[in-house]
Amino acid sequence: MSRTLTIIKPDAVRAGNSGNIVALLQKEGFVVLGMRQVQLTRAQAEAFYAVHNERPFFGELVDFMTSGPCVPISLERDNAQEYLREVMGATNSEEAAEGTVRNLYGTDIQNNAIHGSDSDENAAIETAFFFAGCDLV
Ligand code: RTP
Ligand code: MG
Repeated sequence: MSRTLTIIKPDAVRAGNSGNIVALLQKEGFVVLGMRQVQLTRAQAEAFYAVHNERPFFGELVDFMTSGPCVPISLERDNAQEYLREVMGATNSEEAAEGTVRNLYGTDIQNNAIHGSDSDENAAIETAFFFAGCDLV
C-alpha cells in the first residue's frame, strides 16, 4: 500500500461535486486516511504550487485555488500516486479520457476539478502540507 494526496479544487466544490468525487475514488479502491475542507490563503496557494511560480499561468492558478474552499484528501491504495493520476485524467479536462474525474467534473485546463501528486516524494511533502501524522487514520 502507498499514499498520495489529492485536492478537490474550488470549481468542483462550488459545483457540489465533492461527494461524487470521493465516491468515485473509493470505488476505484482508494481509502480515505484524512479529509478536510479549507480556504487557502494566497500565501498557502503560492507555497503549495511553488514549483510553478515561473509559469505564465501562476497568478491565475493562485486566483483559482483561492477562489473558494477546496478539499485536500490523504489517500491510500496499491500504487496510489500513479493510479490516482490515471483516474484523474489529463490536465486539460477537454482532453481527459472518458470516465476520469477531470472528464466528468472538470471544465478546461485550469478548472479541472482535482489535483494529484506527481511523484511519491511530492505526495509525502504535499500530505504534510495539509495533515499532521496523527490526523491520518
Ligand atoms: P495538478 O498539479 O493540479 O494535479 O495538475 P497537473 O499536474 O495535471 O498539471 P500541472 O502542470 O501541475 O498544473 C497545475 C495546475 O495549474 C493549472 N493550469 N493552468 N492556464 C494554463 O495553461 C494552465 N496550465 C495548468 C491547472 O489547474 C493545473 O492542474
Ligand atoms: Mg501537477
